[in-house]
Formats: sequence, C-alpha cells, structure tokens
Amino acid sequence: MGLTVLVVGSGGREHSLVWKIAQSPLVDKIFAAPGNPGMAKNAELVPIPVDEISRVVDFAVKQKVDLTVVGPEMPLAAGITDDLVKHGLLVCGPSRAAAQLEGSKVFTKNILAKYGIPTADFRVFDSYDDAEQYILTHRLPVVIKADGLAAGKGVCVAETYEEAVEFLRNVMEKRIFGDAGERVVVEECLTGEEASYIVFTDGEKIVPLPSSQDHKRIGDGDTGPNTGGMGAYSPAPVLTPEIEQKVVREIYEPLLAGMRAEGMPFRGILYGGLMIEGGVPKVLEFNVRFGDPEAQPLFMRLSSDIVPLLVQCAQGKLTDARMEIDPRPTVCIVMASGGYPGSYQKGFPISGIEDAEGLGDVVVFHAGTATRDGKLVNSGGRVLGVTAAGDTIRKAIELGYRAVEKIRWEGAYYRTDIGKRALQREGG
Ligand code: AMP
Ligand code: GLY
Repeated sequence: MGLTVLVVGSGGREHSLVWKIAQSPLVDKIFAAPGNPGMAKNAELVPIPVDEISRVVDFAVKQKVDLTVVGPEMPLAAGITDDLVKHGLLVCGPSRAAAQLEGSKVFTKNILAKYGIPTADFRVFDSYDDAEQYILTHRLPVVIKADGLAAGKGVCVAETYEEAVEFLRNVMEKRIFGDAGERVVVEECLTGEEASYIVFTDGEKIVPLPSSQDHKRIGDGDTGPNTGGMGAYSPAPVLTPEIEQKVVREIYEPLLAGMRAEGMPFRGILYGGLMIEGGVPKVLEFNVRFGDPEAQPLFMRLSSDIVPLLVQCAQGKLTDARMEIDPRPTVCIVMASGGYPGSYQKGFPISGIEDAEGLGDVVVFHAGTATRDGKLVNSGGRVLGVTAAGDTIRKAIELGYRAVEKIRWEGAYYRTDIGKRALQREGG
C-alpha cells in the first residue's frame, strides 16, 4: 500500500506541491484541503478552509493520512503541527514554537542577534511614542515591521518620516493588523539584491533547493505596492556557489543550532529571504514554508522524488534524502485579476490553459480559480502561475510569455519583466 498524503492550502504553491507529490511512486492517494480546481486532476478536494485547524486535524486522523504537508504559514503559526503530532501523525512543518521564525519578527530578530547571524541592525518597541521618537532620529529610508503575521503587508520601507509615522500609527494605534501590531521592529534599510533560499531540514541537517528570486511589487520595474509575489525564477544568479556556502555556514547552521539550543528544533521547510550586497548575505526575514510563487519554478526543476524529503523532514531524520535538479532554468509568471492587490472582479471565464500547456515544457498552476457552471473562472487575486523551463533563462522567459499570451480572461494582468534581472546578470 502506498502513502496517503494531505496537502493543506489552495494556492499555486499547493497546486505545484500536489503536482510534484503525484509523480511519486510512493503515493497512492492525495487529498487537498481545500485545494483548487487545478489540483482536482491529482487530488481529492476536501472543502475545509485552512484556518479551521481542528477540522483539518480531524480529517487527517479519520483518513489515517500518512503525511500532511502544510502550504501556508497561518496554520503552522497556530500550531497545526503540534496538534497532528499529538495524534501520532507525520507532518512536514515546524511546531508552533519553531514557526515563530515567521510568526514573530521580534522573536526572529532576537534569535538572529543572540546567535550572531547577519541581519539589519534593529530595535524593538512596544510603545508607540518610543517608536516614533526613535524613527524620527533614524536616517532614511527606515524599515518598520509589524511583529506578527500580516499577510505580507506588515513591512514598510519608508522613504520619508511622514510615511514612516503614518505606517507606525496604522500598525500600533489603529491596529490594522490587529495584535500583530502590539510590537514593532524598526531597522536599517539594507541595499543589494534579494534572493530566496529554501531548504528542507530535520532540525540539524539541510537539503537545499536551488536559489530562486521572487518579484514582490505589482508593477514592471519593481514599482507599485507589494503583492504575494508576481513571478519567480530559478536559479537566482546573484547567489553564486561561494555566497551559497556563506549562507549555509553563517546563517542556516548557526540558526538551526540556536533553535535546538532554545529547545525548539526547526523541522520542515525553512525559507530565508536574503539581501546580498558585495558578496555578503544578510537575513531580511524567514518563512517557515515553501515560497509562493517560488515553489512553482523550483518543483519544476526538481527531477527526483519530493516525498522522501518531506517524510524524512517530518520524521526528524534527513538520512538518505537526495535531490536531483534539472539544470535548465525555470520561470513562473503570475497572472492576476485586474486591480490586484486592490479590489478586483471575480467570475470571468478563463480560456487557453490547454493551448499554453500544449507548447511543451509549460505547466499552468492554479491559484485563485474556481469552477462556476462547469466553467473555469477567476476567483482570487493571483489566479494562475504559468511556469516554463528552457535551456537558458532567456528561453524559459520567452516560452513562459508565449504561454501567457495564449491565456485570456477579462482584466487579466501580469508583469512583463519577470526574470529581467537574471538576464542582465548574464549580460543578456
Ligand atoms: P518581509 O515581509 O520581512 O520579507 O519584508 C518584505 C520585503 O520588504 C522584503 O522582501 C524586502 O524587499 C523588504 N525589506 C524587509 N526588510 C528590509 C530591510 N531591512 N531593508 C530593505 N528592505 C527590506
Ligand atoms: N513569495 C513570497 C512568499 O512566499 O512569502
């Protein structure tokens, strides 16, 4: 009998997880809670929202699920792993305590400082007045972060004092992110180029995925408001083998040792958001899960079975896990509903996905899609992750955009410059 796997989540990241897990000869059955229409080919969809943790746990127990893989941060920060483990179930994801690496920026900065891990200089405040006073003496730009989870909107890189104070007021006084704004981190602004470094870890050993790079802003040229991520590519040439070694030695090894010393070993997927300047990597943030959209181009390059890695992380012993990586670069272009990250209209029929995939070396991952009257429609901000592989990054980008052009719905929006930085680095 093969394994039964439950994937928790409904975005492009979770679709790519289901797609990759379905390729494993070890797996018989996949459930996705709540999943999306794109996953229905490979998984049975279970209509339980990710924030109803006790229902997800009950389902996993009842179905005797062999492995649960949690996509988004919210259930991890709320302790879904602890709950599943209590029932004797295997789950690839950190405990509630270890998930503080994403759930609390104050926790993370204090751990980084305690274990001498390079990051921006910072101060923590729990009083609005003290924070404001400090900000007004800080040089610009200044970075302000709400302590808790804020759906990717809790960070402000302020160019002016007005902007800084307005954000601080929204976070600490108006509490636009609720309790997440009880405390703030105020830190220096780092410059350089960002990269994502995502590893499987059992708490001690790491098996890294290749580097990748996200595009957080809505507009071409990294303009406009932040989003969940408008596209990604892998590898990120900024992360050279020499810098990668530094990242492992100076960041991941001491961090994991620190978490063990604190009595909260980190098992699962650890995603470092890094800033690299002059060959020096520093930590911007940690996430305790795969990136979205980074997972999509990464899993397309992962040619070996993902399931042993997930199982061994869950068991806390990455022993014989290995990873084979397709050397070809991959690119994921996110297609979003017009208006995102602001308000947008839902329910427009989507066409052209089969034509796009018909190009070959293209996979279209679903995020905010739904089925209405038998038709596929847009139902969320980020709708599709069009992912393509090529012999060079340029070829992957060209193929990805050819695929995007085959897909239509009213108001569809995408950035036209995904992967441009990688091209520039390669002198292309
Ligand atoms: P975070 O949610 O912590 O990843 O922050 C979101 C984004 O804000 C990051 O991807 C960076 O682009 C930016 N950011 C966060 N911290 C800093 C910093 N200290 N200096 C410059 N940019 C930052
Ligand atoms: N792509 C950014 C994130 O997953 O947080």
